[in-house]
Amino acid sequence: MIRVVRYPASIAVGLAMVLLGGDHARTHMPVVAAASSAQAQSAGESAGQQPAPAPIPGVDQAAAPARRPDVIYVPTSPEVVEAMLKLANVTKDDIVYDLGCGDGRIVVAAARAFGAKATGVDIDPQRIAEANANAKTAGVEGRVRFILGDLFQQDIHDATVVTLYLLNTLNLKLRPKLWKELKPGTRIVSHAFDMGDWQPEQKQDVGGTTIYLWRIPAHPPSD
Ligand SMILES: C[S@@+](CC[C@H](N)C(=O)[O-])C[C@H]1O[C@@H](n2cnc3c(N)ncnc32)[C@H](O)[C@@H]1O
Repeated sequence: MIRVVRYPASIAVGLAMVLLGGDHARTHMPVVAAASSAQAQSAGESAGQQPAPAPIPGVDQAAAPARRPDVIYVPTSPEVVEAMLKLANVTKDDIVYDLGCGDGRIVVAAARAFGAKATGVDIDPQRIAEANANAKTAGVEGRVRFILGDLFQQDIHDATVVTLYLLNTLNLKLRPKLWKELKPGTRIVSHAFDMGDWQPEQKQDVGGTTIYLWRIPAHPPSD
């Protein structure tokens, strides 16, 4: 007898990513984002029948931005986190921003393993709650902060290193802000996604995924 197992959409997407493997982010994150968006829409459509979500400890719900994430949460592996921070040559003198910080793993690693000060920004209150908990567990609360907000609205002028794991389209949308706000010499590292015709200073393969390094030039383009 053949038994048909039906997974909820979120588990099916996760399984597909595991099964497809490799540089899944480049090939599958937009698909996953689309699936997530469809799920979010369907959740929104039936919101009238749903009970209100439970408050998340440590998160000021009133401060939560109204709009949905531009890309869903897919964490960077510890191996890639370390490689990104090494590629940027992060030291204790750096101020690192992870834009779309998820559970804060890049921020926490920058503080714990490299002694930097670091800020994470995420639009999802659940992620910010996880990030604060992870910073506490790692004992780096004094050197990190997590901000619930839209990365496109965040003041990042004091960054010396910016880390990204977004999408090609989002990197391109972010580029003018990076050029406008960041000081010349600031390093930008992106996991899996490039910056279009802005050529990276370095590219590195880490276990099948590519990470990229750029440096803000003395006279950046305006857009
Ligand atoms: C692919 S995950 C990367 C997480 C983390 N940087 C890492 O590498 O493990 C992208 C994150 O960006 C967040 N995000 C999406 N759109 C955002 C926005 N407009 N402002 C802030 N965060 C956003 C999502 O909530 C998600 O946690």
